[in-house]
Amino acid sequence: MTDEATQPLWYKNAIFYEVPVRSFYDSNGDGIGDFKGITEKLDYIKSIGIDCIWLLPFYDSPLKDDGYDIRDYYSILPEYGTLEDFDLFIQTAHRMGIRVIADLVLNHVSDQNKWFVEARSSTNNPKRDWFVWSDTPDKYKNVRIIFTDTEKSNWTLDPNSGQYYWHRFFSHQPDLNFDNPEVRLEMINVIRFWLKRGLDGFRCDAVPYLFEREGTSCENLPETHQYFKEIRKIIDQEFPGKILLAEANQWPEDAKKYFGEEDEFQMNFNFPLMPRIFISLAKEDAFYIENIISKTLPVPDSCSWGLFLRNHDELTLEMVSDEERDIMYSEYAKIPKMRLNLGIRRRLAPLVENDRSVLEFLYALLLSLPGTPIFYYGDEINMGDNIYLGDRDGVRTPMQWSFDRNAGFSRADPEQLFAPVIISSNFHFETYNVESQSRLPSSFLNWLRKLVVTRRRNVSVFGMGSIEFLHSENKEILTFLRIYDSSIVLCVFNLAKKPSYVTLDLRKYAGWHVRELISQVRFPDIGELPYFFTMQKNSFFWMELERRDESEQP
Ligand code: NOJ
Repeated sequence: MTDEATQPLWYKNAIFYEVPVRSFYDSNGDGIGDFKGITEKLDYIKSIGIDCIWLLPFYDSPLKDDGYDIRDYYSILPEYGTLEDFDLFIQTAHRMGIRVIADLVLNHVSDQNKWFVEARSSTNNPKRDWFVWSDTPDKYKNVRIIFTDTEKSNWTLDPNSGQYYWHRFFSHQPDLNFDNPEVRLEMINVIRFWLKRGLDGFRCDAVPYLFEREGTSCENLPETHQYFKEIRKIIDQEFPGKILLAEANQWPEDAKKYFGEEDEFQMNFNFPLMPRIFISLAKEDAFYIENIISKTLPVPDSCSWGLFLRNHDELTLEMVSDEERDIMYSEYAKIPKMRLNLGIRRRLAPLVENDRSVLEFLYALLLSLPGTPIFYYGDEINMGDNIYLGDRDGVRTPMQWSFDRNAGFSRADPEQLFAPVIISSNFHFETYNVESQSRLPSSFLNWLRKLVVTRRRNVSVFGMGSIEFLHSENKEILTFLRIYDSSIVLCVFNLAKKPSYVTLDLRKYAGWHVRELISQVRFPDIGELPYFFTMQKNSFFWMELERRDESEQP
């Protein structure tokens, strides 16, 4: 029996790490990251306490959407290595106790994929019906456009046949027709192929858009849920313990539905929460976080939200109010080039002006809210970004390993790198790299390692525990309890950019001890009077509440 089968809820206690193979480490000096490279760097990934790696698409692709445009679902992009390199990577990761999931792109393919090449060759080609065609661009009028900066329509004319094909993303990414049973079956073949090779599950791309129905938004349709339930059933039967993580950027009510009745996705990115963490910070008001957490909970016991601060895309602002979007743009995207579509294309450290207290605050929040934290490669060393690169490339630059040539990413000539390393003065790789940050005991990286260890020591309460918000007079302070069996952790966060304080009614725990979780320092016991915290700007406390032992004197 596999480890996954014996620990079916492993993902609830895990920390994930998102990695593009292209950007991580170049083992053969061609300027592009590869599987051998990432295999060499597994020790580092282990050293930050990662339990599961999420690989961005590594399949054969013309790379017009960084691999989310797949040419062949059954092979690896040659620049990244061979299937044998992939196998060795998985085996090595597993030996080190690290699981691996990868992107599964169901909704669309590259226009260079042989299925589409065949389909467009003639209207009676057997593959024609694998895609969505129309004589006019007038169908599905109510459907929004996602890549608003590039696309004007979800239809593109195929001059060969005079028909239009449907695409929710770039026009070079035709959508598959999931009404066709052959398509549904082919994608299940893809799933089996990669799970048999050892993957521990998938991050499923663009989940809401699989089916189209006239008169709807063509998002979150019942048919889409039904198909994922079928996939889940197959996985549970044939590959127990392997997981599905949904990318469904939707409003809370729609996003939650992807957990099904514990028969659809085990995990789902908490898109509703992510921008509201930044809004709460900008407005110094706990309301936005508390309100959205209340709307996204509860989730079924075996399910978990994927919590993240940043990822490989723009910081998406599709599912926030106009007012909230305005707050985000004015606080975090002061230069027009920082915006893309309905979002902000910046990394975490530049987004918060590399403010150490804000960065600590954000990671502590990520590690203590209910859900599974997902880190984005490089954010742990406060990597900078490059808004002068096109599309989202500025947040996907080479990982910075050392202060050597090319930040230690590659031995190629600098001109040969797939993207330049970050050399802007405030984020220069000579400072922000794994080697330098590891050597400096007080670095953010070493602080984060300590925080991860602390979470790991208390993983049941953070991974499985319930949440209870405590209220005070002060809207700048976010306060909640995480509770699991007899373990209780009190979490207090000061959202304000200046010192603040809070008094809490903790009479329910009168007589209990209070211990700061990271340092293990004892604080005064709880009494009948309000419990009082003074807080530095953007600071936090994780406090363990311990019931007094019967034998102790009051
Ligand atoms: C979502 C992915 O995260 C993004 O990078 C990609 O461009 C779109 N899906 C289209 O595949």
